[in-house]
Amino acid sequence: MAHAPALHEPASDRAPARRVLLIVSGGIAAYKTPELVRRLRDRGLAVRCVLTDGGSRFVTPLALGSVSEDKVYGDLWSLTDESEMGHIELSRSADLLLVAPATADLLAKMAHGLADDLASTALLATDKPVLVAPAMNVRMWHHAATQANVATLRARGIDFVGPIEGAMACGEYGLGRMSDVADIVAAAERAVSARGPSPLAGRRAVVTSGPTVEPLDPVRFLTNRSSGKQGHAIAAALARMGAETILVSGPTALPDPPGVQVRRVETARDMLAACEAALPADVAVFAAAVADWRPAQEAREKLKKGSGGVPTLALTENPDILKTVASLRTGRPTLVVGFAAETEKVVEHAQAKRRRKGCDWILANDVSPETGTFGGDSNVIHFVTETGVESWERLAKEAVADRLAHRIAEALEQDPQKAPAARSGR
Ligand code: CTP
Repeated sequence: MAHAPALHEPASDRAPARRVLLIVSGGIAAYKTPELVRRLRDRGLAVRCVLTDGGSRFVTPLALGSVSEDKVYGDLWSLTDESEMGHIELSRSADLLLVAPATADLLAKMAHGLADDLASTALLATDKPVLVAPAMNVRMWHHAATQANVATLRARGIDFVGPIEGAMACGEYGLGRMSDVADIVAAAERAVSARGPSPLAGRRAVVTSGPTVEPLDPVRFLTNRSSGKQGHAIAAALARMGAETILVSGPTALPDPPGVQVRRVETARDMLAACEAALPADVAVFAAAVADWRPAQEAREKLKKGSGGVPTLALTENPDILKTVASLRTGRPTLVVGFAAETEKVVEHAQAKRRRKGCDWILANDVSPETGTFGGDSNVIHFVTETGVESWERLAKEAVADRLAHRIAEALEQDPQKAPAARSGR
């Protein structure tokens, strides 16, 4: 595909500090990319565009070339382009690769390492951070193949912004719309600056995640349906922003987040002990679904059917890990954050829970079965602090994690005192 030549001198000649390579693939949301380029440039970022064949059906090289004031690339086999700027150099001369919109097809190519056009080749050849703004039909987004590709990419450290919920060009409604331009710009700025001075560098974070498992006998146990997705995403986001991050997790099927120290536990008591051992910390986030009760007796031998009839299950209360850490007199983390899984009066119960548990913030989410949040990929969060409540739109769990991590960075910025362990680099 031959694209329009540069209309102006390349922006890179002005040696801008931070450069974005914007890869536009073939979704209807591509029509928003000239605006995206404008807004990125408003923020002082230089933008160079790569347009896929599919992308060029929705937005013209001329439009992108005009707003980026740079050449628009599209052809892997162009001799002129290759002699001016090889595709490897193209992907490495940027500080960030931003894929917006990212189609299901391009995500699949990225996950599987295909490189059959300039966009996929640049993505495979890069050694720079990659931020992806997916846009596709809701069913395509939820398809197991797409979700597996997204999980693979996330595990490799690729950042996502969106998708968000809304009406789609195809007439359906759901999760799959490309994030708003302003949110993509904010995420791109964060991604670019996160690789510079890390806002959480020198800070230490402890995060709990997943379920706990409470044994009844050597083969039976009580547990819950927590997937660990939210807690793992939070640990990954904090680590990306430079925090030394310890993830204390019950059993999950998730890969260890990159750059995070993982402590695997089973029971609530083990989780508490691992959290205490991980302190001191600047921030502790309690996202685990801790079993409130455990069997009062753990039988050493397998319980047998026999003369005793049906056994009665006596329960005893587990320690409240969040409350224990939040009420520490010495060594309390500067910021203690809890979650509240509620099925009714979500905000009201979360406000009461915040006070009862003595934590600074609560992220309340509605886990009634019809919301599909428990075990799902998104959350609708009410962010409850001492001063008020902020209701967030439905967000992918990774986006919730990113937003929370930035709130944590902002709050800790006000607090110059770092946890001793982080100061000494324990
Ligand atoms: N939590 C904890 N230890 C426990 C129970 C809960 O650390 N034994 C933490 C969770 O990780 C979460 C918060 O406390 O951050 C709230 O969990 P939730 O299950 O919503 O609240 P409960 O304490 O179980 O209160 P309730 O049963 O009244 O909803």
